[in-house]
Amino acid sequence: MNGRDLVRSVKAVGSVGQGLRTVRAAWRRRRADAAGLPPRGAERARVPGPVQEVEPEPGGGIIRFGRAELRILVAVNGAVFWGWDGAGPEPSYALAGRCPEPDPRAVLEPDKDGGWRVVAERVTVAVSRHGAIEVRTPGGVALRRDLPPRWWEPVGGGPGRWMQRSDVAADARFFGLGGRASGPRLRDGTYRLWNTDPGHAFTPGDDPLYITMPVQLVVADAGTHLVFHDSSWDGTVTLREGEEGAGSGHDRAGTSELRMDGGPLRCWVMVGAPARVLLTWASLTGAAALPPAWALGHHHARWGFGSEQEVRRIVAGYEERDLPLDAVHLDIDHFDGHQVFTVDQDCFPKLPQLAEELRRDGIRLVSIVDPAVRAASGNAVYDSGTAEDAFVRDASGQVVEGVVWPGEAVFPDFTHARVREWWGGLYEERLGQGFSGFWHDMNEPTSFTAFGESTLPRSARHSLDGWGGDHREAHNVYALCMARAGYEGLRTLAPQERPFVFSRSGWAGMQRYGGTWSGDVITGWPGLRASLALVMGLGLCGVPYSGPDVGGFDGHPSPELYLRWFQLAAYLPLFRTHASLRAGRREPWEFGADVLEHARVALVERRRLLPYFVTLAHLARRTGAPYVRPLWWSAPEDRTLRDCEDTFLLGDCLLVAPVLDPGADRRAVQLPRGRWYDMATEQAYEGPAQVLVEAPLARIPVFARAGAVIPVRGDDGGLELEVWAPAPGRTGGGLVVPDGGDGWDEPEIERYVARRQGARVVVEREGEDGVSEPSHPVRVRGLTGRGTQT
Ligand code: GLC
Repeated sequence: MNGRDLVRSVKAVGSVGQGLRTVRAAWRRRRADAAGLPPRGAERARVPGPVQEVEPEPGGGIIRFGRAELRILVAVNGAVFWGWDGAGPEPSYALAGRCPEPDPRAVLEPDKDGGWRVVAERVTVAVSRHGAIEVRTPGGVALRRDLPPRWWEPVGGGPGRWMQRSDVAADARFFGLGGRASGPRLRDGTYRLWNTDPGHAFTPGDDPLYITMPVQLVVADAGTHLVFHDSSWDGTVTLREGEEGAGSGHDRAGTSELRMDGGPLRCWVMVGAPARVLLTWASLTGAAALPPAWALGHHHARWGFGSEQEVRRIVAGYEERDLPLDAVHLDIDHFDGHQVFTVDQDCFPKLPQLAEELRRDGIRLVSIVDPAVRAASGNAVYDSGTAEDAFVRDASGQVVEGVVWPGEAVFPDFTHARVREWWGGLYEERLGQGFSGFWHDMNEPTSFTAFGESTLPRSARHSLDGWGGDHREAHNVYALCMARAGYEGLRTLAPQERPFVFSRSGWAGMQRYGGTWSGDVITGWPGLRASLALVMGLGLCGVPYSGPDVGGFDGHPSPELYLRWFQLAAYLPLFRTHASLRAGRREPWEFGADVLEHARVALVERRRLLPYFVTLAHLARRTGAPYVRPLWWSAPEDRTLRDCEDTFLLGDCLLVAPVLDPGADRRAVQLPRGRWYDMATEQAYEGPAQVLVEAPLARIPVFARAGAVIPVRGDDGGLELEVWAPAPGRTGGGLVVPDGGDGWDEPEIERYVARRQGARVVVEREGEDGVSEPSHPVRVRGLTGRGTQT
């Protein structure tokens, strides 16, 4: 620690007192690890060696090598599991329930050159006699080839490190690995698997961030596959895209090299079209929690409202200007001394009354919830947690103390069922204050340190649901387990309502409990681009609900940047303005009359599209398809689409082309196959094509697919169908989920078809007993006769 470190820590956390605490915390952390972690001694390297025998089992079997053992299983959902050295699919924090049943049709059979293979409906897995594993399409094309893995194990026993190198097609592109600001396409480089609070507003160059997961989606001409290495330990993935030899036959394969500090070497692979892959992934890791409809509206957050009056002033600002607002988020400044589950009674003396008044106006209150509990007796949460023995201890049995916003703090061990139950019960206090939703923060977990990593000691002990371990294994699933605690607590406390939980950190499977947001994204054009990258990348990892801090977390966005961020976020699942304590204003009226008018258009359009967002939320839950999809979603073999990162599909019907650069008043848009209408002008375009379209400050280009049937909110608040004329001779259609907004009723999915009959468009509802008239008003668009352009 030197003077610079102290300045750094004071800058990061505020006061000199807090700065000194972080110095002490850093030393404590270092001492705990020196005493509590085994030193890395001599290691022995191992590879599987030659195959010796096989033992068929339902869905696959066991292949024994000289120095390792491999188990392969094809599950009924079409996913393939394999695990080395006795690793089975369970226990797992990612899986939603039990491992799916084996597919009895898949059998282990001899392959060429002394290898073995399992042939399943959608995939063939071939294992060479030295333990290389190849995943092939049913047509026999290789999608991925894992070389025999390598282990390095301590000579005296204990968990070993391992490395798995894989080759993919020369044309393959990588996506996923959780939330990566430089994505969505993951360029060559090393990506760490360790959930991290960067400690400052991040740029696209910051990696890793809050959510990492060993989930890779690989898209190539030959097919798409998702691979998930189910180990929560620290690790790295080094990606290198391949190169094609321009017909010379000398292609260089793409490679992915995974190095893990520990944990089982086991993985799941699923193959098929992107929609099929995400469906299988969701069937394994669980359906995405369905947000209440209000959470699909507009949210306004701020660190530093500071008082009820300020909250009222902001809400009045929205109301006076007739701007839609659905939720207001209170940050740590409404807590008493930054202590979670408390209220500053001086500044927020009548919070339940405020919440009630807002609710009458259709606005919900959302509360931040930080995991760190101030370590001070007299703090009710600390006292009850202590009585419960809820807090993480170090290897010597002492409760681990770190430093977060309230000062010295302790951390619940969410990997313990009893602790989750205790924590879940604490939300009763929040519900009593009138809060309807919960914003989990600082749960990587972050503990400020003047030097070293800003988290718990790696030696800290965790229950890990009974099998026991330390923070090296628990770190990445800490926030996932906190989300579970909150979600399950709310299910018990308010059983009629859908819990609304979104969490800064998380891991594979976090969608079961809610969504996320992009964290402290930097205010600047690169931050705007990173915002979209994060939402798209997380969607491909099975986390469909997320969005950025509109305007960026820190600093002062220019009016133009603020507006472009606002316009983008109006088409993302979580549409929330938020900013740091010392950042500039973020209200739409603070940037001049023009920005206000254009922001109003975005807000009004978002409200109009609410039924569509609700439908997308239902479809995400039922099918695993994210609301926000890359352009290649339905045509992964189209290489132009595969490389397009600045445009996205919102469900099946819309294509959104945000403006991500300053000074632009038009932009090039890549359109997939088919007819697309510019929603503002109704101009029709024929894809595939790249078109140049107007993008004045007033709007970003948004296109509707010809034939789309989109549920929208009519002027009277009722549901209407907006139908975009199919191209002549073509049909179209769409799904509508008429949802009550909250609660657990399962609405019936309505299916519509749209047909072109001469100059007319006919829309019918398809049911089990044939077709019927739609029960909602229909408005046809795209028939104005504006010519088609390519
Ligand atoms: C973290 C969060 C941010 C929040 C702040 C204060 O930086 O990411 O959203 O405003 O903490 O709670």
